[in-house]
Amino acid sequence: MKPLVLAAITLLSLGMPTSLQAQEERSIWSGVYTAEQADRGKALHLGVCAKCHGERGDGAGEPDQPQAPAIARASLLRKWDGLSLAALYELIRNTMPPDNPASRSEQNYIDVIAYMLAMTKVPPGEAELPPDPAVLDYIMIGPKP
Ligand code: HEC
Repeated sequence: MKPLVLAAITLLSLGMPTSLQAQEERSIWSGVYTAEQADRGKALHLGVCAKCHGERGDGAGEPDQPQAPAIARASLLRKWDGLSLAALYELIRNTMPPDNPASRSEQNYIDVIAYMLAMTKVPPGEAELPPDPAVLDYIMIGPKP
């Protein structure tokens, strides 16, 4: 192998934690959260997010709250098509709720994403979504296959 190619490969593998080297992109439709996790997320959604984003995440919040976008179903899939759950996680964690961003635990924020997927009729699977951007980066949002 040419030294330059070798150097490039070494650099690439240095940039990635060993446990992730074998990781491949997969879709949100491949069973990436659990029903139990979505249930936990539902409590947070109803307690914190629903007053602006609507109980069903359709953007129909309470009249005295600021106008907020839909965060489920077709709107979610369209707006975030081609992006990873890491992008969604970072946005929610760093900006929501707008009056008190980053006020919840990382576990709370990832659980609420599980519930957003459940509201979107994305089927649950066997393993929970972890609150870990390095893993979420490989889970891609897109239309139902
Ligand atoms: C006080 C009202 C309010 C609360 C509470 C709130 N949001 Fe929001 N949210 C907004 C507004 C307004 C925007 C649009 C911000 C913008 O476009 O700059 C937004 C944007 C978003 C977006 C981006 C939507 C998109 O596709 O553009 C997501 C996702 C989101 N909120 C999730 C949540 C979650 C999850 C919670 C609960 C932890 C939450 N929000 C709580 C008002 C709220």
